[in-house]
Amino acid sequence: MSSLFCSSIGKKLLMGLSGVFLMLFLLIHLTLNSFLLIPDGGEMFNAGAHFMATNPMIKIIEPVLAIGFLIHIIWGILLTVQNSKARGNDRYASGKKTAGVTWASQNMLVLGSTIFAFLILHLAHFWVKMKFVGDPLLEPVTMNIGGLETEVENAYALVNATFSYLWIVIVYAVAGVGLALHLSHGFWSSFQTIGFSNQLWRKRLTVIGNIYAWVVGLGFALIAVFQYLFFQ
Ligand code: HEM
Repeated sequence: MSSLFCSSIGKKLLMGLSGVFLMLFLLIHLTLNSFLLIPDGGEMFNAGAHFMATNPMIKIIEPVLAIGFLIHIIWGILLTVQNSKARGNDRYASGKKTAGVTWASQNMLVLGSTIFAFLILHLAHFWVKMKFVGDPLLEPVTMNIGGLETEVENAYALVNATFSYLWIVIVYAVAGVGLALHLSHGFWSSFQTIGFSNQLWRKRLTVIGNIYAWVVGLGFALIAVFQYLFFQ
């Protein structure tokens, strides 16, 4: 079993599976974050964040998510090194562009590293404060959830204050575009690796992948920009 995941095919398979899992996470994360666009003083966002923080299923999924990210990052680096060694001097041999080879597909490691750098900053801004060190802005507020007066952390106040800084919004906008490019190749590539592709589906997955990639990437970017422009 371990030799399967260390072989070239096995490494690609793990990249594909972890990629699909992370793409699912991004969709859920974006859905919750889209509540930040509702002009209700953060009520919906706080209720959603509270649900995520207290739901036992999410508690189980969190370590799986961390492992998913680690596998994706480590195996991604291993595969890129292995591929560039295998190509050796032939890399630029023809000098011609090959059909279907996009800039994103040739720069997945650079794009992935940019997203990783963003993720460190992002987790320090929100996750570390909400899970470990706290922040005065998170002071609980009382709200009515399902007819019950419930105390919830004011995650909205923290997010809103963070997006009052222009440099942070610019970082999110750049990361959003990087994420869109990474996903525009990663989407169909993941499905192809796990065997879900043929001539017909390759075309469909490219179209669906591009739509998914830009909705998710620009979605995150626009939430940060809108918070800065319209919610301060
Ligand atoms: C507008 C953009 C974004 C906002 C407002 C946002 C907000 C948040 C918040 C508030 C948390 C803490 C949740 C908690 O600990 O309960 C969090 C966690 C996290 N975010 Fe984001 N996020 C954004 C974009 C992204 C992007 C682009 C990625 C990935 C590339 C990402 C990946 C994560 C991860 C892995 C966690 C930790 C796991 C979790 O607690 O859900 N986020 N985010």
